[in-house]
Amino acid sequence: MAIREILEVPDPVLKQVSKPVEVFDDALKTLVEDMFETMYDAPGIGLAAIQVGVPLRVLVIDLQPDDPDAEPEVCNHGGHQHTHQPTIREPRVFINPEILDPSEEHTVYQEGCLSVPEIYADVERPSTCRVRYQDLDGATHEEAMDGLLATCLQHEMDHLEGILFIDHLSRLKRQMALRKLEKLRRAA
Ligand code: NI
Repeated sequence: MAIREILEVPDPVLKQVSKPVEVFDDALKTLVEDMFETMYDAPGIGLAAIQVGVPLRVLVIDLQPDDPDAEPEVCNHGGHQHTHQPTIREPRVFINPEILDPSEEHTVYQEGCLSVPEIYADVERPSTCRVRYQDLDGATHEEAMDGLLATCLQHEMDHLEGILFIDHLSRLKRQMALRKLEKLRRAA
């Protein structure tokens, strides 16, 4: 496994439309493993392959944040004793996902994105939807989604079309967000 570089705005690669996965091989499994490692390291709750520069229709999601109140675990590997927080992971992989039946009812969530660091803004999306997708073995599944999972999945689906969450904002708000990001980068 390896942590890959996350592309950030205004990298033109993020505007590419991703291609369907046709081969379900070890290279795909490695890509997904690397995407999880990269996402957990960031940390974030969702990542599309294009965000690490791979234009394939692959998404990973894990809505479980680390639990800061959990009892630390004492570990002895690596020859020295140390503690770390136990983490409950709920890794989800969506390959060639399609959204079906988006609800007429919409929900507003404050979204952020690893490719638009430090910027958060309200985005309105259908509250519920169904998703049809393939797993790492190429088997097809369908699932109903609501809440944060529905929002996160739709945000990640946008990446496959080269769309970022700030593209849903008014021109003025988008320019303000990008200017704020520039300022933060200069300060860093
Ligand atoms: Ni994103």
